Amino acid sequence: MKPIETIMLTAPVIPVIVIDDVRHAVPLAEALVAGGLRVLEITLRTPAALDAIRAMKQVSGAIVGAGTVTNAAELHAVIEAGSEFVVSPGLTDSLADAAAETDTPFLPGIATAGDIMRGLDKGLEHFKFFPAVAAGGLPALKALAAPFGQCSFCPTGGISLRNAPEWLAFDPVLCVGGSWVAPRYASGDAVDGDHVAALARNAAALRGEDS
Ligand code: 3PG
Repeated sequence: MKPIETIMLTAPVIPVIVIDDVRHAVPLAEALVAGGLRVLEITLRTPAALDAIRAMKQVSGAIVGAGTVTNAAELHAVIEAGSEFVVSPGLTDSLADAAAETDTPFLPGIATAGDIMRGLDKGLEHFKFFPAVAAGGLPALKALAAPFGQCSFCPTGGISLRNAPEWLAFDPVLCVGGSWVAPRYASGDAVDGDHVAALARNAAALRGEDS
């Protein structure tokens, strides 16, 4: 099994995390891991993101990666910070080549057959389907996946506890991504660890309910 597949199969949901205050990183990661979600995607959308990756790496059991990585420079920065995998909203040749050179498990976004074909040209078979609901939802992914039986997907964008089971019931979907399990806390606010752990527990139970 490729490393990216192992990561995708670790839990049914990958939390998509936005950190505004690096002090939130450890309590948030601890609560998510305690609830059963070990794979954590920290998005490069805030100045605190790289420090948050470094901090979360200290949390036992956490598998920490970076999201919203859009170019080779960002890829190198997140790997330097300790990212164990890299997620991108899209697929460019330069980013795919940089990821291949570093041998980092890489999950690029796709939304069209052409995107998937460019990924296959690069030796990639595991993709984020993004933005999942806005790009046509499950019917769109079913139609897109049909000619590409070797490919697996992590739909992200508009996924919730309520609609996740339908996505996870489709075989090529190994996991889904979502921000609903990782509330965004304003700087200065305290992370509600019990609340986050409860969100994570409900999400971690999704595979059990479905398969
Ligand atoms: C992403 O950032 O990958 C998605 O926008 C997350 O989408 P969601 O907020 O709808 O879960």
